[in-house]
Amino acid sequence: MPTIVFVNEGKAGVVADGTTVLQAALDLGVKISHVCGGNGTCSTCRVEVVVGGENLTAINPQEKAYEMGDGKRLGCQARVRGNCAVRALMIPRVDLY
Ligand code: FES
Repeated sequence: MPTIVFVNEGKAGVVADGTTVLQAALDLGVKISHVCGGNGTCSTCRVEVVVGGENLTAINPQEKAYEMGDGKRLGCQARVRGNCAVRALMIPRVDLY
């Protein structure tokens, strides 16, 4: 079974193959937003993939709708298929001026 590491929180755990990154986070006690409850319709569960992106399932249409890719994934849609490390919730950069 694969291991997932949440880098910022310093937490890691072994999860069942196919577990979503969001569910892994919740199981490990990692604080991660999930406003829509994991339905792929809010994008608050975003994570940055640090290593092992090839060990997550392919980007799906919900993620494409939120322009995920290039190391960014929706935690509720990306499923763990092998060892990986992620950072939970990326706050979008906002240019104020
Ligand atoms: S929890 Fe809403 S998109 Fe993932």
